[in-house]
Formats: sequence, C-alpha cells, structure tokens
Amino acid sequence: MNHPFRIGVLGSGKGSNFVALADAVAAGKIPAQIAIVLSDVESAGILAHARERKIPAQFIPPGKFRTKLDEDAERAFVVALQNTKVDLIVLAGFMRVLKGDFLRAFEGRIVNVHPSLLPSFPGLEAWKQALDHGVKVTGCTVHFVDAGVDSGAIIGQQTVPVLDNDTAESLHARIHAAEHELYPRCVAALARKEISVAGRRVIWKKS
Ligand code: GAR
Repeated sequence: MNHPFRIGVLGSGKGSNFVALADAVAAGKIPAQIAIVLSDVESAGILAHARERKIPAQFIPPGKFRTKLDEDAERAFVVALQNTKVDLIVLAGFMRVLKGDFLRAFEGRIVNVHPSLLPSFPGLEAWKQALDHGVKVTGCTVHFVDAGVDSGAIIGQQTVPVLDNDTAESLHARIHAAEHELYPRCVAALARKEISVAGRRVIWKKS
C-alpha cells in the first residue's frame, strides 16, 4: 500500500505559508501529511501554529553562523527529517541557506517560496528590492532548492501589481496573499507526482 506523502516544513518566521499549507492539507486539497515542522528560531510563530494543530514541532539551535546552519545543526535537521521519513521538504520562510550535506541528503526534494518573480530580486527583502527598482509587476516564485541562492528550477509563479501608493508593507502583504495560493497549488502537484523536471524546465503533467 502507498504510504501517505510526508512533508517536513522548515521556517523561521510567523508561519503564514505553513498555515496556508496546513489548511489546504486539512481541506483535502493536498494529498499529504505534514509530518514535522522545524525552526531555527525558538520563538517563531510557525512552531506555535504547528503545535496548535498537533503537528510535531521542534526548535533546533542553528549554531554560530548568521546566514547558514553550523555543522552540528545541519546534522540535527537532517536526522530529524530522515527519522520522520519525509518525502518532501518545504521551506516556508526559512531564512538560512542550506549547504552541501543537507542538499545531498534530500536531492531534488526541497522546495522554497520566494517573494519575487525570480530570477529578479533573489536574496533578502525581495519585495523591497522590487519597490526600490520601480518594477510595475512583481510576485512570488516556488522553486526547487539547489546550491545557489534562490536559483533552482522554477515550479510556479504568480504575479501581483505594484501600485503607485504601495509601501514595502502593503506590497509584501499582497505578495504574501499570492504565496498562500501558489504554494499549496505547487505542493499539491508535487504530492500527486504531477511534476517532472527536465534540466531547468519543470513540466506540470496535469493542471
Ligand atoms: C515569505 O514571504 C517568504 O516568501 C519569505 O519569507 C516570508 C515568510 O512568511 N521567504 C524568503 O524571503 C526566503 N528567501 P511566513 O513565515 O508568514 O510564511
């Protein structure tokens, strides 16, 4: 018998994308189970949201670096995810770059949501980068994670307009709302095995 598709979610922040994913799972829109939530931030809202939903949630101290996990922390994340037998790792506002050993352990099975239309505006505060640049349209991107920063093959994108009176906050809120639609759609397609990858091109077998 096929075991249920198991998802591990990693996040550092308030966890609104996790909530959108968990709600989509609960509504039967994603044929999967969120098996574990891990965070590098002890007070992160994402852990509280997971615990409210009785999903195992764990803080793993990230170690001495600011933008990546140290070796012990990386091993602890990998072990927790392997012990939980996850099929897919979903980064939902996880603010550290994942490195070699982690990527090798879950090759092709890690996805991320980024708040811009990649390859424009990779890195931090992408909504602010878009506003400062003066683009008229931005959005969000769900992509596979590779060794670069926000550089992996693109699974899906959703656009939002940039309005003349936008502030960084109002634009970020509009992008967040788009993420909450796009990410569950992409994760559902992955769980249903409707996604295939040919080099940089990701093909949706059904839509
Ligand atoms: C989201 O906007 C996500 O795109 C961004 O962090 C936010 C997390 O919000 N991720 C990145 O910038 C990663 N480079 P959430 O905690 O409410 O889901």
